[in-house]
Amino acid sequence: MDSIFVTRAAADAVPISFVTAASYAEVRKVLGAEIAAFADAAGFEPKAGRYLLLPGKTGKSAHGAVLGAVLDAALGGVLFGLEAADETPDPFLPGRLAQHLPDGTYRFANEPHDARLAALAIALGLYRFTRYRKAEARAIKLDLRQSLDRDDLARIVEAVTLARDLINTPANDMGPAQLEQAARKLAARHSATVGAIVGEELLEKNLPLIHAVGRAAAVAPRLIDMTWSPESRGDAKHPRVTLVGKGVCFDTGGLDIKPDTGMLNMKKDMGGAATALALASMIMARGLKVQLRVLIPAVENSIAAASFRPRDIYTSRKGISVEIGNTDAEGRLVLADALALADEDKPDLIVDFATLTGAARVALGPDLPAFFTDDDALAGELMRHGTAENDPLWRLPLWRPYEAMLESKVADINNVGGSQGGAITAALFMRRFVAAKSWLHLDLFAWTATAKAGRPEGGELQAARALYAMLAARYG
Ligand code: BES
Ligand code: MN
Ligand code: ZN
Repeated sequence: MDSIFVTRAAADAVPISFVTAASYAEVRKVLGAEIAAFADAAGFEPKAGRYLLLPGKTGKSAHGAVLGAVLDAALGGVLFGLEAADETPDPFLPGRLAQHLPDGTYRFANEPHDARLAALAIALGLYRFTRYRKAEARAIKLDLRQSLDRDDLARIVEAVTLARDLINTPANDMGPAQLEQAARKLAARHSATVGAIVGEELLEKNLPLIHAVGRAAAVAPRLIDMTWSPESRGDAKHPRVTLVGKGVCFDTGGLDIKPDTGMLNMKKDMGGAATALALASMIMARGLKVQLRVLIPAVENSIAAASFRPRDIYTSRKGISVEIGNTDAEGRLVLADALALADEDKPDLIVDFATLTGAARVALGPDLPAFFTDDDALAGELMRHGTAENDPLWRLPLWRPYEAMLESKVADINNVGGSQGGAITAALFMRRFVAAKSWLHLDLFAWTATAKAGRPEGGELQAARALYAMLAARYG
């Protein structure tokens, strides 16, 4: 993939000067009196998010010295305002430049709050979903100093792009079969192995909950199973990391049908699967020393004669009988079987990603994925990396007493709790299917409703950059 990051490609890369109220006077001196006067005339102020394109300096042309006012034809520089010392910095703020910069090659003339994240934000801000409508082609390059790992940044941008494209693609073109194809395509690039258990085979292979949720759809439900390990293959000593992603390609709610507003955006209910694939993409491209497995239950929660029903009871892969209290709580069902399978070969770490509950969004809003784990050390590590990567998340408790809310009178467990604490009861439901201590569950939104710096409106990769940084620190 063509990366926007280059190093010393162009001697004439246009300098971007980051300024704050405090530093602006110094920067003005460097720019010179004429350019500073231009900035004043253009009304530029060194406030967060303000920007200005600057003309080239005078006096460069042969006649310049004589005429005194000849401007370079080229763009001379860019000013971009950052947060002052008493404001909370958004490391992605420079991502706003993606909307403003004309085509060309740019470099940072000085340090923003975080040069790596600023560069990443600009690259991520350039994303457009072009599958169904062409967008104007952009040709922006960022000339980064040598000490920034361009390849790693490119890897991250590629993964975010993959996740956004998968999430943004509507269900008519991103059903269970296409999600499988996406996994196969990714696997082929990295010499990973993929298999899929499809349709009735799910019953033969004892994955009854995945079958129950997906059986009414026109496209057969399936479990996608991808495995990979780095070049030093056969090295069974590498720790084993298993990622599980909720791949509900469309969630109508099933017979407990969603209202129109609730259903509108449910093409994104495979956001967990997209997240798992994107994280896998970064892990494999970087060659992290892990034995990786990715499990994706890919289904459509559809309405038809074959739909599973409220009060149905199914015995899960793990042997736990589950009473269906609500067919719209389908994600935890497909994940229960996938997690039970993941657990069977005792990996060192299991991480699942899911657009699981509206309750997690009520608690934390759209931009802050909730995570659950019993492993306090893991939780601390993840929080630190999330903050460092500007990929924030927040821990919620696996509060055992709420397990009582999941009690069924006729089966081992009901798939829904009461009306309160819904993100917690969903997590507690899934916990029953995993024995591993190092289990991490992420309940995320996978969507940006209102564009922000570095985060265009639409599908979004959440939590995966934090996890990638954590895994790279552990297993790089
Ligand atoms: N996919 C939804 C959850 C969801 C909805 C995530 C909107 C993000 C945005 C999930 O399958 C669901 O429907 N959950 C129900 C569970 C309830 C029936 C216990 C919910 O959260 O309302
Ligand atoms: Mn649902
Ligand atoms: Zn769902």
